[in-house]
Amino acid sequence: MAKAALITGITGQDGAYLSRFLLGKGYRVRGLLARRSSDSLWRLRELGIADEVELIDGDLYDLSSVQRIVQSLAVDEVYNLAAQSFVATSWQQPVLTAQVTGVGALNVLEAIRGRDTAIRFYQASTSEMFGLIQREQQDENTAFHPRSPYGVAKLFAHWSTVNYRESYAMHASTGILFNHESPLRGIEFVTRKVTDAVARIKLGRQNELRLGNIDAKRDWGFAGDYVEAMWLMLQQPEPGDYVIATGHTTTVRDMCRMAFEHVGLDYLNHVVIDPKFFRPAEVDVLLGNPAKAATQLGWKATTGIGELMAMMVDADLRRVARE
Ligand code: NAP
Ligand code: GDD
Repeated sequence: MAKAALITGITGQDGAYLSRFLLGKGYRVRGLLARRSSDSLWRLRELGIADEVELIDGDLYDLSSVQRIVQSLAVDEVYNLAAQSFVATSWQQPVLTAQVTGVGALNVLEAIRGRDTAIRFYQASTSEMFGLIQREQQDENTAFHPRSPYGVAKLFAHWSTVNYRESYAMHASTGILFNHESPLRGIEFVTRKVTDAVARIKLGRQNELRLGNIDAKRDWGFAGDYVEAMWLMLQQPEPGDYVIATGHTTTVRDMCRMAFEHVGLDYLNHVVIDPKFFRPAEVDVLLGNPAKAATQLGWKATTGIGELMAMMVDADLRRVARE
């Protein structure tokens, strides 16, 4: 019989790629949809799957809606991807971030505990939990030191998942995912902000790009690769925690240079440093060690940062040209 999955955050970057991946595996895919006044289905439409997934109204922070949805559906797997996921906003809205990104995960765990502890659960944990890094290369045993309200909220969600696994023998896993990007990335994140600007500058629609700390380093991979790792975790006989990363780190500056070079431009002629984009506390470097995922899941990142930037710039060139 075909498996069924519930995805919170189905309208986000990862939700869209995961939906496509699971549909390809023959899953029935349902998603929790938080009603918005603006169009939030564009990613599902861009992948051509908006009509293939079933969307159910609810809000992660509203325990009653999460419980109603989990009670009413027969699902084998729940992927909790919903979050206030933009780190910079988490200083502007720390309480909302704690409620949605932190308590929201606990709401899903509680709903599953009340329904059926055999339902397998995936929590979208993050390298942002490492924050002020305690080891040069971070793995599943590296101590956490979050640097943002977002990181703190995610740590609560992470430990809640571990706690439910240990308390109720649930198949609850966490993926400690390092930054992953794609043409479906939100425009506020630095890679997409850069590729959108590169396209606009190349096509004569804008001239400068204002950025904050371009010395920060990130371990950037392709979102399309990373959703497979989420699924693989839930297919294991035992639940666990897995770092998902490329094992390479790059400065924002170099990422930027690559994106501009892809269309024959020099970033130095266009990038302006604007203190407005600096954060109250920064995560200077992230570099993951994906060895456990390679050994236990057979998973490996396939896309390097150069290829990723080229893919994103090309997609933005097409979008901007259509406007
Ligand atoms: P994203 O594009 O920002 O998507 C977030 C999703 O959460 C959207 O579907 C959003 O819905 C939904 N959402 C927000 N508040 C909600 C609420 N109160 N109730 C229900 N849904 C709500 O994030 P992403 O890049 O796909 O990331 C997926 C998850 O992985 C997130 O939890 C993120 O924190 C985590 N993560 C991401 C990365 C990364 O590099 N991308 C790395 C590590 C961990 P709307 O579209 O309607 O707002
Ligand atoms: N967004 C943004 N905008 N970031 C900038 C800018 C700018 O103008 N200028 C420099 N940066 C720097 C940030 O200070 C940060 O060091 C780095 O670029 C990456 O920023 P983001 O792309 O916003 O991502 P993030 O690393 O803060 O968070 C993302 O990755 C986490 C995993 O490590 C998000 O996807 C989180 O949800 C995710 O958990």
